[in-house]
Amino acid sequence: MNKIAITGIKPTGIPHLGNYLGAIKPAIELSHNPEIDCLYFIADYHALNYIKSKEELIELTKEVACTWLACGLDPKKVVFYKQSQVPEVTELNWLLANVTSKGLMNRAHAYKALVEKSTAEGGDPDALVNMGLYNYPILMAADILLFNSKYVPVGADQKQHVEMARDIAKAFNKRYGYTFVVPEELINKKVATIYGLDGRKMSKSYNNTIPLFCDEAKLKKLISGIKTDSSLPTDPKSTDCAIFNLYKQFATATEVQNMADRFAVGVSWADAKAELFSVINREIAPMREKYNYYKNNYDIVEKLLADGNNRAQKIARETLKRARQSIGLDSNAII
Ligand code: ADP
Ligand code: TRP
Repeated sequence: MNKIAITGIKPTGIPHLGNYLGAIKPAIELSHNPEIDCLYFIADYHALNYIKSKEELIELTKEVACTWLACGLDPKKVVFYKQSQVPEVTELNWLLANVTSKGLMNRAHAYKALVEKSTAEGGDPDALVNMGLYNYPILMAADILLFNSKYVPVGADQKQHVEMARDIAKAFNKRYGYTFVVPEELINKKVATIYGLDGRKMSKSYNNTIPLFCDEAKLKKLISGIKTDSSLPTDPKSTDCAIFNLYKQFATATEVQNMADRFAVGVSWADAKAELFSVINREIAPMREKYNYYKNNYDIVEKLLADGNNRAQKIARETLKRARQSIGLDSNAII
């Protein structure tokens, strides 16, 4: 039987080059493997922590859906769905919460970061934390375990969440007998972390992103604004910088070697940026066209999602039934 791979993207902002390289592109490549069945979804329940406006949630969900399809997700091969349309995930979330220690959740990076922030500002440690954020890793474990997933293709920052899903699966299996596949993260070592306009990790939270499908003029402008040092064109340059970090993701091996040679002897930032624009645009332009098509014909996307929601729900119901029986919630589980 084929192994299952699953990943989700939260509709919390306009998808950017970091999301594309770290999560979307590797996931699409994985979906071409005939020995793996993939489920890719829009993690809208997970977005509720961040997005508080109805209009924004609807708009950003549309962005993420069109992005998946524009990047090559084939809905005939991949089960493409919206998390909130498979509400079985919330029931599993509850079942899993009861095998999850509070201590495990206390160690989550996102939770700890908010506690540290609040403490540093002299406030109550939990002032910035709601239960959606605190339970986030359990809901993510439910996403993964509900579909018997073995592989979870994600960017490096999601490693801890998948490790937690693994711990939760093992705790459940230990208490109730083998029920869930124990998942593992798939992290593309070649991508790891993509830097943003200011040289930090590209992230919606830092406001330093290059939107994947901004138009050519905006793409050029954003690239020309990437922070660089004040070295002269003739000065040798380190390849450990945002420009080279992005260039090597889009250029061919020969182009990367040539650019590295030019960095070693000195290249003007303006030339390096112009070439960066050209390799990014070469890859993105055809996808941008598809993205615009789906945005303008969103009824097509909704139909595809409706079909995917049904397919996902069928699997979800079976797994949930199995989990309820393992626990002894359903009478037919009594032997
Ligand atoms: P953001 O940090 O912008 O809010 P998300 O947390 O929604 O991004 O991430 C969605 C997916 O994209 C995750 O799998 C994450 O690992 C990946 N990702 C996000 N930013 C980057 C980055 N700068 N480099 C590599 N992968 C990234
Ligand atoms: N937490 C992931 C992120 O921030 C999104 C996500 C939710 C996810 N559920 C998932 C990723 C299940 C992989 C599998 O990017």
